[in-house]
Amino acid sequence: MNQRNLYICVLAAGMGTRMRSALPKVLHELGGEPMLMRVLRAVGKLNGRGTIVVVGREADQVVAQVDRWTGAAGPVTFARQDPPRGTGDAVRHAVAMLPSGYAGDVLIVYGDMPRISAATLGRFIESHRSGGAAISFISMLLKTPGSYGRVVRDETGAVTAIVEARDATPAELAINEINTGVYLADAHVLAETLRAVDNANAQGEYYLTDIVGIARRSGHAVSSWIADSDGEFAGVNSREELAVMENDIRFETNRRLMASGVTLIDPATAYVSEQAEFGPDCVIGPNVQILGRCRFGAGVRIEGTAWLRDVSVGDGSHLKLGVRAEECRIGEHCEIGPFANLRAGTELEGHNRVGNFVETKKTRLGRGTKASHLSYLGDATIGKDTNIGCGVITVNYDGYDKHPTRIGDRCMVGCDSQLVAPVTVGDDAYVASGTTVIRDIPAGALAISHHPQAAKPGWTAHWRRRHENRTGLAKSGAGGGQGGERKT
Ligand code: UD1
Ligand code: CA
Repeated sequence: MNQRNLYICVLAAGMGTRMRSALPKVLHELGGEPMLMRVLRAVGKLNGRGTIVVVGREADQVVAQVDRWTGAAGPVTFARQDPPRGTGDAVRHAVAMLPSGYAGDVLIVYGDMPRISAATLGRFIESHRSGGAAISFISMLLKTPGSYGRVVRDETGAVTAIVEARDATPAELAINEINTGVYLADAHVLAETLRAVDNANAQGEYYLTDIVGIARRSGHAVSSWIADSDGEFAGVNSREELAVMENDIRFETNRRLMASGVTLIDPATAYVSEQAEFGPDCVIGPNVQILGRCRFGAGVRIEGTAWLRDVSVGDGSHLKLGVRAEECRIGEHCEIGPFANLRAGTELEGHNRVGNFVETKKTRLGRGTKASHLSYLGDATIGKDTNIGCGVITVNYDGYDKHPTRIGDRCMVGCDSQLVAPVTVGDDAYVASGTTVIRDIPAGALAISHHPQAAKPGWTAHWRRRHENRTGLAKSGAGGGQGGERKT
């Protein structure tokens, strides 16, 4: 590609009224991420010097979300446009933020055009640069051009203007070449033509489209690049369009995954983010959501009904029915679930088992360590080959602060024990079942806090005699402590 400076301008200040939402349109999610991030990721691959996002009234929300999702987009800065007075006004705000004396191109795209790809934009940029126009834009031929801006050409076929549908004559309305809203312009020509844009039109807005006619009249070359497929330029204006696009993206992703060697037991209910990466021979069961940036090694099996966001899973691991996991690392050959909740900061070194009704948070399990049933493990660091018995709880919260629990290698933490943090259990220690651990346990020791157990011979018969005249467990023969109330 011809080396010229490139800045990218993403328009995202429009009201998005038809979404009927308090959330800015560009923050509505597609494939588990705000649609704006998809655009930022695409333009982030173009080797631009920077990206300027024009945001409107809810600027703070947009800035916060972009910060949260960064990494994908390279350097992003924001221009504020409030109120939104049209696409031309929006680009003026962006141009004002270019470095002073900037020479080069400016690419303009919309933040609500989430299917735009870097490959297509790259080809457009290349074509513009080899053609020598001062301004280019991407157009499309549509059978029903609807409310799009029409591309007007002169008798030689050269583009002379873009006319908005609302301002078009009947003859112009009949034109079926439309403006997609993607432009590439020389920064000087862009600034110069924007200065001449006024709002004398049907909507009283400053139209970016007017730069085309203005540039032509002042002798600059303008060209349109006719796109061959329309899918990438589709915008999202309503929740219905959002759902349709979500489905399109999902099926495309699913087809690509299957072609690359991932088994989807039911593609209709596999919701996999485009950024997910899979090793060979993974199997995804029904009703699985894989969001954000997830990585799976070879032969990972996800049985079904799972919700996973930003997790990595090592080779050969098996996620059984009902796993929810977020921002965590699951090593190789782990068995998770059924019904396990792995919260942010969970790290399983490998060969671990986290079984049914176990919740983990900011907790690390060394290689081979198991917590098979009914536990809460929070802010815990556990060594290798340790067994966490059924019902073990780390008591990590005192009402003000969270405290850490440390458990060594090869420990046996008995069922129904509580570890009152901060507390440390040394290597090879045993915790007797039902113990409330309140002090550190040295390596190799047994901790036990049982009350002495007594057995009273004949106690049951005595008890039942005292209740002789009542219907209870013994007489009705039915189970359950409430048996006495039964009228049988
Ligand atoms: C625009 C084009 C039209 C084109 C169509 C393609 C103009 C005048 N018209 O029309 O030729 O066919 O896109 O979809 O440009 N925005 C701002 N600030 C504003 C107004 C809009 O940032 O003040 C942003 C919006 O958030 C959106 C984009 O610009 O991302 C396009 O705005 P929209 O109102 O959808 O433009 P259209 O009227 O559809
Ligand atoms: Ca639009």
